[in-house]
Formats: sequence, structure tokens, C-alpha cells
Amino acid sequence: MKKSKTVRIIKGSIGIIAFLKGKRVTLRPVSEKDIPLFLRWFNDPEVRQFITTIFPVTEAGEREWVEGLTKKSSTDVVLVIEVKGVPIGTMGLHRINWQDRTATTGAVIGDKRYWNKGYGTDAKMVLLDYAFNTLNLRKIMSTAIAFNRRSVAYSQKCGYKIEATLSSQHFRNGRYWDEIILGLFKEQWLPYWQKYCQKSARNS
Ligand SMILES: CC(C)(COP(=O)(O)OP(=O)(O)OC[C@H]1O[C@@H](n2cnc3c(N)ncnc32)[C@H](O)[C@@H]1OP(=O)(O)O)[C@@H](O)C(=O)NCCC(=O)NCCS
Repeated sequence: MKKSKTVRIIKGSIGIIAFLKGKRVTLRPVSEKDIPLFLRWFNDPEVRQFITTIFPVTEAGEREWVEGLTKKSSTDVVLVIEVKGVPIGTMGLHRINWQDRTATTGAVIGDKRYWNKGYGTDAKMVLLDYAFNTLNLRKIMSTAIAFNRRSVAYSQKCGYKIEATLSSQHFRNGRYWDEIILGLFKEQWLPYWQKYCQKSARNS
């Protein structure tokens, strides 16, 4: 088994910042400079139909959210996904519970050109490595609205199993949809991680 992929590269004052490194993506901390991108991504109807945002996302609101991340640093870890230095979205661990050792992952690739190209799976695998092998969490959850088949599929690619369905939980596009709840224990994830590391070694 390869050792944990958690890295911290900080070059100069404004150079490359990498907190986690996958095969094809880098995950780095959120910066105030990302706010214009967040406005574009989270207001886009094609993107926000999949997430909880129903009101317009404003610059002031995003500034408050970014500032609040520092205060919530023991319960939420939010990172920007980059591909070759280009920010494409965000991914995070939310509602970390240190007694139960659980958390929920959330992700938004806001730049639609990068959907369905494997970047989400790559980012999620290294975030899970951080969750299980650095934070020592035990179980990670994920939820998706039932029509978001891609979200369910990419979580399953990382080892998550569907644990429950909440009936008619969300109102979208004029009707109610179920919510799919997925869960992943560290032991279930380890074989997927092993495969991921083996593939990485072959590709390097
Ligand atoms: C969900 C998201 C993070 C996934 O990242 P991604 O990089 O697009 O996903 P990947 O390419 O790694 O994997 C997607 C998988 O879903 C599959 N898929 C795509 N559409 C599908 C569909 N309608 N039904 C079933 N599977 C589907 C793809 O074929 C792929 O599997 P494969 O690699 O075995 O072919 C990203 O698409 C996104 O941010 N979408 C918009 C916001 C969102 O939905 N966020 C999640 C909220 S729960």
C-alpha cells in the first residue's frame, strides 16, 4: 500500500499551493480570489439544480462564507479542485463528528466542461484518503437527489454503497424527488484505494 497522499507544497507567496494531490487533480484551500468563480458556478442553473442553493449567490454572501470557513475548520474542510492550475470546482468534508468519526462529502465541479472526465472520482479518492488516513474518520456519507445519477455513480466508483432513500425529499423542476443516502466505511474503501494506488504506480 502506498503511503498517504497528503502533501503541502507552498511555493513563494503566490505560487502553487497544494494540500492534496491526486493523479490528475490538485486540491488546495479556498481563497477570497475564488469568489468570482463561485458566483459563476453556484448561480448556473445547470449546476445548482443538483445542490441545495435556491437563492441567488451574492458576492457578499460568498465573502461571509469564505471567512466563516476558518471558524468552522474543526467541522468542515473545503478545498478547490484544480486541473493543471485551473480551478474547476470545490469538494469538501462537512459536518465532521469527532465522537462518531463521521463526515459527509460534498462536491461541485462548477466548470461543466470538466464533467464526466474522471476528475470528480480522482478528487474524491484523495479526499477520502485524507479523511480516513489523516483525520482518522471511520465512515463517510454522501447524499444526492435521485435524478443526479452521475453523482451516485461516481460515489459508487469510490466504494460507497446506497444505505437509504428518503422519499420525495426535494422539490426540483416542478416535482418531488427522492434523496439517495450513500455510506462508506474505511474497510470498504481500502480495496478501492489499493486499486487506485496500483493504477497510479502504473501510470507514473
Ligand atoms: C457529481 C460530480 C462531482 C462528479 O464528478 P465527475 O468528474 O463529473 O465524475 P466522474 O467523471 O469522475 O464519474 C462520473 C461517472 O458517472 C457516470 N455517469 C454519468 N452520467 C450518468 C448517468 N446519467 N447515469 C449513470 N452513470 C452516469 C459516468 O459514466 C462516470 O462513470 P465511468 O467513469 O465509470 O464511466 C460532477 O459531475 C459535478 O460536480 N456535477 C454538478 C454538481 C453536482 O452534481 N454535485 C454533486 C451534488 S450531490
